Amino acid sequence: EKGGYDHFMLKEIYEQPNVIKDTYRGRLHANEGIIQMAGVEDNLEKFLNADRILIVACGTSWHAGLVAEYIFEEFTRIPVEVEYASEFRYRNPIINKGDVLIAISQSGETADTLAAIKLAKEKGAFVFGVCNVVGSSISRETHAGAYTHAGPEIGVASTKAFTTQITVLTMIALRLAKAKGTLSNSDFHRYLQELEVIPEKVTEALATNDVSKTIAEKFKDAPNCLYLGRGYNFPVALEGALKLKEISYIHAEGYPAAEMKHGPIALIDELMPVVVIAPKQGHYDKVVSNIQEIKSRSGKIIAVVTKGDVQVRELADYVIEVPDTSDALSPLLTTIPLQLLSYHIAVMRGCNVDQPRNLAKSVTVE
Ligand code: F6R
Repeated sequence: EKGGYDHFMLKEIYEQPNVIKDTYRGRLHANEGIIQMAGVEDNLEKFLNADRILIVACGTSWHAGLVAEYIFEEFTRIPVEVEYASEFRYRNPIINKGDVLIAISQSGETADTLAAIKLAKEKGAFVFGVCNVVGSSISRETHAGAYTHAGPEIGVASTKAFTTQITVLTMIALRLAKAKGTLSNSDFHRYLQELEVIPEKVTEALATNDVSKTIAEKFKDAPNCLYLGRGYNFPVALEGALKLKEISYIHAEGYPAAEMKHGPIALIDELMPVVVIAPKQGHYDKVVSNIQEIKSRSGKIIAVVTKGDVQVRELADYVIEVPDTSDALSPLLTTIPLQLLSYHIAVMRGCNVDQPRNLAKSVTVE
């Protein structure tokens, strides 16, 4: 049932090109310039009239929410707040009638996310679910929603759920942007085209598997690891760090690259691996100077770059190349080598990759 792979996690990492396609099939019509999702279409006015969008989730799904915050605000100009469901539900949050709350959950059973939904409904918000498991509690409790069609995710560490959540959320943002006119026609069409070819680019990103394996060999015994990114790739840094800590038990932290000099830089020495996400689009020059700061303190640099990159390659100890795409879609590609890197490190350390200690696939208790 692992389809020839050693672990479910690896199988699920490799399924990503196909499941991203499954997720946009019938919804994304790039040539016609149409995005069609029943749950969004039926409630378009609610989204368009929203003063703001609240996103609640936990763990990796919360990271997808952070990526969505950047995408929604950029594409639709609707203010977005992203909250840990567990914090949101216990702090007497301000929820108004016109608010739209998006709950993201792979399992659809996470207790804190479910409780946040109930609270938001009581206060009159419109609640939209992005779930993977069909018929799950969250999919039933929400007013409307859109499924990610990732198929069953067995590995405890979330991989394909994350990229398909981002796919769904990107399509929602694009649909709203079209209705609001907040993206130019040419940008809208370009994003549709780019999203359509993402699966092929994910396949290319997966072809870096051997590079990740080589890097894993070098750093498998590190006690700590830092992940840095900016903009759309800041949440990817958080997700990369979470993947490493949960399956390899190496302490890892994700940080916005610019925040490094406000504290974490003190940790950098010749023993500290620093994974920097530095695609060409985005705040490239800023990230390059962050890399220089790490290098001058002898940190070991592993960089995720755009294919053909020269500048970072000169500075970094190791580079992993992913195909070029626009800044907003880059998390779908930059995430892939980070999943593979944690996977290989965990395997080399003899960890139980599919069932890490102390973790459950769905957290049905708060
Ligand atoms: C990390 C992971 C967890 C889940 C979190 C939320 O790899 O799997 O952090 O993302 O427990 O779960 P769902 O998405 O099912 O609500």
